Amino acid sequence: MRKILVAGNWKMHGSHAMVSELLEGLLAGSESPSNADMAVFPPFPYLAQASSMLEGSSISWGAQNLNPAPKGAHTGEVSAAMLLEFGCSHVLVGHSERRSIYGETDEDVADRFVTALESGLVPVLCVGETLEQREGGETESVVQRQLDAVLNRVGVGGFERAVVAYEPVWAIGTGQTATPEQAQEIHAFIRDKFASQDDIIAGQLRILYGGSVNGSNAADLFAREDIDGGLVGGASLKVDDFLAIRNAVG
Ligand code: PGA
Repeated sequence: MRKILVAGNWKMHGSHAMVSELLEGLLAGSESPSNADMAVFPPFPYLAQASSMLEGSSISWGAQNLNPAPKGAHTGEVSAAMLLEFGCSHVLVGHSERRSIYGETDEDVADRFVTALESGLVPVLCVGETLEQREGGETESVVQRQLDAVLNRVGVGGFERAVVAYEPVWAIGTGQTATPEQAQEIHAFIRDKFASQDDIIAGQLRILYGGSVNGSNAADLFAREDIDGGLVGGASLKVDDFLAIRNAVG
């Protein structure tokens, strides 16, 4: 049976006290058997705390971004080697907030994906359309373009050890979750795209859905054939909500 991944994107939220409480709660909750893997993505300053609290547990952790350069004059940026020193196994790349607020282009996202792969981090590539693009019938072409920017660099083989997260921008932080049918349709589109190049990699690829996932809608989403888990923002900041999503997995 496939194993779901429930990933918590904390965005720019947290404090020492909050991280302790949240991770203690998740550690206690992760002792019950489940068919879900859990991962958390705290802001950079809390990676040390995550690393010391989660080391040896079943919960993985990662960062929300990385700079493609190995080191140098990049004020305000963080390299893959630094993330590895704090035990990160995963890193988000191309989150819509990085694309829309901080101007990361498809090429920038591809650079980050390549660096993550080369460093041994698992990139979680975020793709998804805006409301305007959906209403304009461009959903598939936008997702295709975002995937192609990376596929052109690493080929399908680069996804053997990567995760894709489909996050429609209009569903992020809005409470307006995509319906399981809407999400499944795009997840199937993504998987088919990979399957046309490599059936095995496509079959193994984890495609997460993100955008207002919560304890009440997770089970319906995860029941769909091509939805292999969730990238969770708001609901990942509360122990009970995040565990409810983890426990929604059948
Ligand atoms: P949300 O965020 O669950 O709060 O909608 C998801 C994300 O941005 O990854």
